[in-house]
Amino acid sequence: MKINVLTLFPDMFTPLQVSMLGRGLEDKKWELNLVNFRDFTSDVHHHVDDTPYGGGAGMVLQIMPIKKALDSLTNKGKVIITAPQGKTFNEKMAQDWSKEENLTFICGHYEGFDQRIYDLADEAVSIGDYVLTGGELPTMSMIDATVRLLPGILGNAASPVEESFSHGLLEYPQYTRPADFEGKKVPEVLTSGNHQKIAEWRHKEALRATYLYRPDMLVDRKLTDEEKRMLEEIKSEKEN
Ligand code: ADE
Repeated sequence: MKINVLTLFPDMFTPLQVSMLGRGLEDKKWELNLVNFRDFTSDVHHHVDDTPYGGGAGMVLQIMPIKKALDSLTNKGKVIITAPQGKTFNEKMAQDWSKEENLTFICGHYEGFDQRIYDLADEAVSIGDYVLTGGELPTMSMIDATVRLLPGILGNAASPVEESFSHGLLEYPQYTRPADFEGKKVPEVLTSGNHQKIAEWRHKEALRATYLYRPDMLVDRKLTDEEKRMLEEIKSEKEN
């Protein structure tokens, strides 16, 4: 997968070039093409923004450098613009995007985009109901969530399927040594060696975490008979 990023701050993107994603780059599991759209300006001062028509505070990013930067790309694939008013990013979108050959992100900075820039993108996507100074951090989050799903990026190939959101439940609690930390003990079942019991316990605890912290995730989820039984137990355990 090749990901293009149109940004005024390519230097901000180092977090994607270290650790697992960095190794993925070295191993050519994915490619990152950072494009500074200031390079596509034609005036001597390399302006990328201008004052808003109609007046008002702040500056507005102009369409021309972004359009030219997009046109310079051979394979754009899906074009995503980051904006607080876009639809909220989630794991399902990461899964869909991870199947694409190419993706292109447009990062805004400063006050905002000329409205016509949105027409250059296939979708506007937000990472949540808060406003950041630019689209770089949202883009990095979305790239991280997408690229980690590509084959060969995570050490353990089975891990993306087992975790939060991918099966509609939060993750079950995990423990490692010591078995007893200042009186806080690891649940006995995990040291029992009984794999069937461990799997059942994990399933129930994933359901418990979801019921307690993200009950909204259970609304549209079809529970199996086993899960319905577990949920009844969880509710009665909560009452007692
Ligand atoms: N740009 C500024 N804030 C943003 C947000 N919350 N999501 C995506 N892009 C943004």
